[in-house]
Amino acid sequence: MKDGLLMNVCMISRYGKGPVEFRKVPIPTVGDNDVLVSIHAASVNPIDFKIKDGRFRMFLKFKLPLIMGNDFSGTVVEVGRNVVKFKVGDNVYGRPDKDRIGTFAEYIAIDVSEIASMPSNLSFEQAASIPLVGLTDYQALHDVLRLKPKEKILIHAGAGGIGTFAIQLAKQMGAYVATTASQKGFELVKRLGADEIVDYRNEKFEDRLHDYDAVFDTLGGKILLRSFKVLRKGGRIVSIAGLPNRRFGIEHGYGFIKRNLLGILAARISFHEARHKAKYSFLLMKPSGKQLGVIADLIERGSIVPVIDRVYPFGRVQEALDYQESGRVKGKIVLKIR
Ligand SMILES: NC(=O)c1ccc[n+]([C@@H]2O[C@H](COP(=O)([O-])OP(=O)(O)OC[C@H]3O[C@@H](n4cnc5c(N)ncnc54)[C@H](OP(=O)(O)O)[C@@H]3O)[C@@H](O)[C@H]2O)c1
Repeated sequence: MKDGLLMNVCMISRYGKGPVEFRKVPIPTVGDNDVLVSIHAASVNPIDFKIKDGRFRMFLKFKLPLIMGNDFSGTVVEVGRNVVKFKVGDNVYGRPDKDRIGTFAEYIAIDVSEIASMPSNLSFEQAASIPLVGLTDYQALHDVLRLKPKEKILIHAGAGGIGTFAIQLAKQMGAYVATTASQKGFELVKRLGADEIVDYRNEKFEDRLHDYDAVFDTLGGKILLRSFKVLRKGGRIVSIAGLPNRRFGIEHGYGFIKRNLLGILAARISFHEARHKAKYSFLLMKPSGKQLGVIADLIERGSIVPVIDRVYPFGRVQEALDYQESGRVKGKIVLKIR
């Protein structure tokens, strides 16, 4: 339908700190299991500036030039031959597979398994803020930690994009939630339901929190290593910012050399894991339209509300990326595409 027509996109043609480029490229063609979505809004995530810098190039192969952006909301304008679940005019939100990213664009062709109907009570800007953080948090708390009612969890960086959604999800699951934040984020995390807040700039969280069942680590490095101290014996840590370990390599079918390399790189984490008799898992979020459907239900029931810090017009992507990289964002940044 849109063959030969052009769309505006924001892309990079080389890795590095240079500014993003705006270009016109052909609107993508729709595969049999795809829908073509007219994008209304996209969100900005730390992964965007990390991809742009080339930080992932060792293990995530992107073909340059690359259209940026990892999640979106919009309206279906064309459906592939096998698609029955969605029709033209449906409002959807989604997170494309890593091989088909590119949501800082007017259109995206995406497999239907990676989208869901947008929560009916949200604007396009609000809905666009959800997919990447929502899926990551859902997979961390449900699939990896299997958090149970009344369990105690520490969620790091509660005021960030991941944290603001995770606090609400953990409360919805019936957990007792502690979080780390600076004073600027206190009011926000309290409003979202945090039971205990540690001002990470003035207090060590491990001095106050003990016998926790679980930790959701969003910061990695020394904070991850210190987090083992708050766990009870047999407690669990899931990290999205630390290092994958050997177990991750085995579960993801990596070959002998790669999985042992991970074992070496994550040796310090494994040492702490054994010492504290804990279980450490690294999570790499996977797209899932099915889970986005579950998340849409939670949002429509009012259990989770989006938290948006700033909305930028499409032409100011670079400013949005710079603000994201500052590490001071409270909730999410959204780009208004149309
Ligand atoms: N593995 C995966 O699949 C996956 C998926 C999604 C995200 N991630 C990663 O997860 C990380 C978090 O993402 P995000 O979107 O939440 O980032 P973000 O929104 O940029 O986080 C910013 C927030 O972090 C807080 N913060 C910074 N340092 C802190 C500290 N030492 N203790 C407590 N809070 C601190 C800041 O609060 P103050 O300004 O008050 O300091 C700010 O509110 C990123 O590294 C991202 O790449 C990984």
